[in-house]
Order: sequence, then C-alpha cells, then structure tokens
Amino acid sequence: MSLHRIALIVLALALAAVLFFFSHVAAAASTDDVRARIGNAGCTICHHDETEPRASGDAPPLAPSFADIARRYRGQPGAEGRLAKIVVAGADPRQRHWKDRLEFTSMGANAPRVSKAEARAYVRWILARP
Ligand code: HEC
Repeated sequence: MSLHRIALIVLALALAAVLFFFSHVAAAASTDDVRARIGNAGCTICHHDETEPRASGDAPPLAPSFADIARRYRGQPGAEGRLAKIVVAGADPRQRHWKDRLEFTSMGANAPRVSKAEARAYVRWILARP
C-alpha cells in the first residue's frame, strides 16, 4: 500500500471520529432541550425525574416519576402515541393507570398549551430516558 493511500485512510478515519463525536454532542443538546420544554410546560410540578425514596407514613407522590413511566411502558408497541394522547387530553379519572399509588387522582388536560406533536416529543424523551 502506498504511503499516500495510508494517509488517506487515516484522514478518513479521523474525519469519521470527528463526525461521530459531533453527532453525539448534537443529540445530547436536543435531548436537554426536550427536558427543558417539559419543565417549561409545567409537567414537573407533578412529575419528578426519579422515584423518590419514601418512608412509611410519607404522602404518596403527586404523579408517577418519569423513571416509573419509562419502566412501565418502554418497548410496548404504540405506547408513544397512546401516552401522548393521554398527555394532551388528560388521564381518564374513571380509568386511572396509577390508581392507589398517588396523592392526586388524575392528570388534567395539557391541551391547548401542549400540542399533540409536542406531547409525542415529551413521551419519546420520557420512554428513552435511562
Ligand atoms: C397536576 C399534576 C400533573 C401535571 C401538571 C402533569 N401530570 Fe402527567 N400525570 C399526573 C397523574 C396524577 C398521572 C397518573 C394518571 C393515572 O393514574 O392514570 C399522570 C400520568 C402521566 C403519564 C402516564 C399516563 C398513563 O396512562 O400511565 C404521562 C406519560 C404523563 N403523565 C406525562 C405528563 C407530561 C408530559 C406532562 C406535561 C405536559 C404532565 N404529565 C403534566 C399528573 C400530572
């Protein structure tokens, strides 16, 4: 192999590494952006990111943590669309999915503040969180 060819390969690999690095930086930035929008939309008034440890006698949480929601629905077909619909329209108080585990009985509608597309982005972020 000529020296020229080796140099080209090294250059290509370096370029690939740089692109890989920057695509990850960009992905991280947009993830943080969605989390910021979730905060701005008021979701975290009720929802925490992580499940807080609870002593006996402590009041139950206001809402399931994003970690609990991800554990419950991650990988279920159609979960993103179904949950986004619930986020927009509110949870059905007669069909509570987190019954007896919360302080609040239900989640009210987040529409019209939160659009369907925006709700989908939030749910995608929630389900993809580690
Ligand atoms: C006033 C408190 C409150 C706010 C604000 C709130 N939620 Fe909820 N959320 C709840 C409660 C309570 C539940 C559980 C409902 C149930 O038992 O079915 C819930 C459930 C959910 C679920 C799971 C639904 C299911 O059927 O399991 C998702 C996803 C969710 N919320 C996302 C959001 C997002 C995104 C926002 C912001 C746009 C938001 N929530 C704002 C209280 C809230």
